[in-house]
Amino acid sequence: MWLLSDEEAIKEGILALKNGDLVAFPTETVYGLGANGLSDEACQKIYRAKGRPSDNPLILHISSLAMLEPLVKEIPLKARALAEAFWPGALTMVFLKESCVPSVVSGGLDTVAIRYPKNDIALKLIEGCQFPLAAPSANKSGKPSPTKASHVQDDFSSELAGIIDGGQAEVGVESTVIDMTANPPIILRPGGITKAMIEQVIGEVAMHSGQVSDTTPKAPGMKYRHYAPDMPAFLVDKKDLIELSKTLLQGDEQIGLIFSEEALNVLPNKENLTKFSLGKKERVEEALYRLFDYLREANKKGLDRLYIERYERIGLGESLMNRIEKLVSGQFDEGKK
Ligand code: TXA
Ligand code: MG
Repeated sequence: MWLLSDEEAIKEGILALKNGDLVAFPTETVYGLGANGLSDEACQKIYRAKGRPSDNPLILHISSLAMLEPLVKEIPLKARALAEAFWPGALTMVFLKESCVPSVVSGGLDTVAIRYPKNDIALKLIEGCQFPLAAPSANKSGKPSPTKASHVQDDFSSELAGIIDGGQAEVGVESTVIDMTANPPIILRPGGITKAMIEQVIGEVAMHSGQVSDTTPKAPGMKYRHYAPDMPAFLVDKKDLIELSKTLLQGDEQIGLIFSEEALNVLPNKENLTKFSLGKKERVEEALYRLFDYLREANKKGLDRLYIERYERIGLGESLMNRIEKLVSGQFDEGKK
């Protein structure tokens, strides 16, 4: 598995992808694990490499609006408006699929998710291939999404032809996924583009509850555990910070504290405590940018337990809490018992 950057990486990447192999590449959200999105065989390799359940569909990445048309049955007006406003960018739209999209990509559904990423390397790679790239986040199934090339290296070896290193991903959390086949459209996964930003362009949209019924798996990804660190992790409310401080002063387990700067200032400093700052509490985008990296660091350090701060579900806070709730095993109060 090679690790390259710049033009050489793009050249090697295109060769490998045209050959039906897997290549990890940077996007502005997180690193993707790319394959020829029109090749059944190449996409099968993604599921095998990730250990991903076959009913969890993949996103097709395009490098121009012209690439969208042949992949989908229709482009609703609201989707055109969102494309105009947010593409290229951290928004993935779900459309009714055309028959050229292999069913392995759509996980057996009659829809397909499409994203036009805002990253020069990703765009050059897709342009050079001349086919859309199917790409889930480049992590083993259930692990935190990679925001650096080294994260991809930690999870994979010979399954991939190579990794294109484009530095740290700018956004650090995955794209917002919105189902445009519903009216009003439904946000299936909150991400880099907020509900309010979307509603400014097309009016009211719905937010998927996160409850999944087996009969209509609209958001197949939701039923699987995500981002799980190797140790138990607990969510902490602001009102419990003093109580947590007391607990921390007593124990000697290796503990990771993933909190805003303000909260970390309140928590004690001790040898067995590793502090991971999410930045100033009001700067949620910074917390998103850092979270996945900290989860991987906590694993590397072999910590015994993690505590993570609760944020308000407003704006990007919705996306942050969506990730945090998927990775924690419980609340601080429960964790104490
Ligand atoms: O930012 C991102 O979206 C990154 C980068 C690499 O582009 N990709 C990513 O892919 O996060 P992945 O596979 O980790 O997550 C894709 C999500 C999953 O929750 C999946 O269930 C959902 O999108 N999805 C894909 N196709 C769908 C479809 N046809 N209908 C509903 N949900 C779909
Ligand atoms: Mg993923």
